[in-house]
Amino acid sequence: MLTRLTQLEEEARSAIDSARDMQDLQAVRVRFLGKKGEITALLRSMGQLPPEQRPEFGRRANGLRDLLEQLLGEKEKELKEKEAADRWERERIDVTLPGYPVPLGRKHPLTLVTEDIKEIFTGLGFQVARGPELESDYYNFEALNMPPEHPARDMQDSFYVAPQFLLRTHTSPVQIRTMELLHPRLPVRIIAPGKVYRRDDDATHSPMFHQVEGLAVDRGITLADLKGTLLLFAREMFGPEKRIRLRPSFFPFTEPSAEVDISCINCDGEGCRVCGFTGWLEILGAGMVHPRVLQVCGYDPEDVTGFAFGMGVERIAMLKYGVNDLRLFFSNDLRFLKQFR
Ligand code: FA5
Ligand code: MG
Repeated sequence: MLTRLTQLEEEARSAIDSARDMQDLQAVRVRFLGKKGEITALLRSMGQLPPEQRPEFGRRANGLRDLLEQLLGEKEKELKEKEAADRWERERIDVTLPGYPVPLGRKHPLTLVTEDIKEIFTGLGFQVARGPELESDYYNFEALNMPPEHPARDMQDSFYVAPQFLLRTHTSPVQIRTMELLHPRLPVRIIAPGKVYRRDDDATHSPMFHQVEGLAVDRGITLADLKGTLLLFAREMFGPEKRIRLRPSFFPFTEPSAEVDISCINCDGEGCRVCGFTGWLEILGAGMVHPRVLQVCGYDPEDVTGFAFGMGVERIAMLKYGVNDLRLFFSNDLRFLKQFR
């Protein structure tokens, strides 16, 4: 039985040596030191020895058990260290490696153009006003001199959500809201950018589009102020050589009224396909604020005058960037949108 102890020591040492992980090592512990392990079994059979050999055997067996405990402990420590080192190797981050590129978003071309428009007009002393997209019939039509049966309503076929409420068809209601809020103070000088809605849908007309309204009210404002302001705008927006032209037109809320054209950005007035061989491109509607509109808002038309204009942002953006289909602005095609900064 003493030889068996020596054998067991050999076997255990080699089993511990070749253990590759904590699971192997646990198996070795069970095999030799467990309740049914080999050393335990040997100690249990000690009774078969002659009594005088028992103390010697007991000492040696216990010694072997202590030795194995110690070897197992050392091996365990070694394996744990190795495991930690492997894991460090596997998971460590090389902070000097170049990172993955993060795609950066950009501003939408309509946002860019709106920002340009705001910058030009705030530079001239205009403030930025806003109004609701869901408007009452009163602000969208009636206060703008379009009573219920007025034929001009037909040109803006509308989205009604209730008998007296609709998605605004233009930003002109912000004129009324602003003057109601400010009267009798002077001057009134605002622009009002925002979304508007009409039952339109083709390459140059979208059911949702953007306008920027402009309004200036003060004593002594004339058509010359309107023209000078819009000329400055056209040159800031499209280039210093641009000319503008006011064509007589009609809006119920301005008198006189005009459609405003700029010299063609493509041919500069020569005549080409872009401008339909007229040399001019329409960018907005404008006019002198109708006396009845001033009155409705609490201003005395005998005392003050004003000009107003409303431009289509998509139209300006199409001219500025040479885009031929307005629907591209709303199709969310990144190949298109990535071209603008
Ligand atoms: C108006 O909406 C007037 N409220 C403008 C105005 C304001 C006149 C203040 C006088 C004083 P108009 O319906 O023409 O006018 O529209 C103005 C601009 O909006 C047009 O010149 C055009 O550029 C743009 N527009 C009109 N309909 C659409 C549409 N469906 N899609 C895109 N742009 C449009
Ligand atoms: Mg028009």
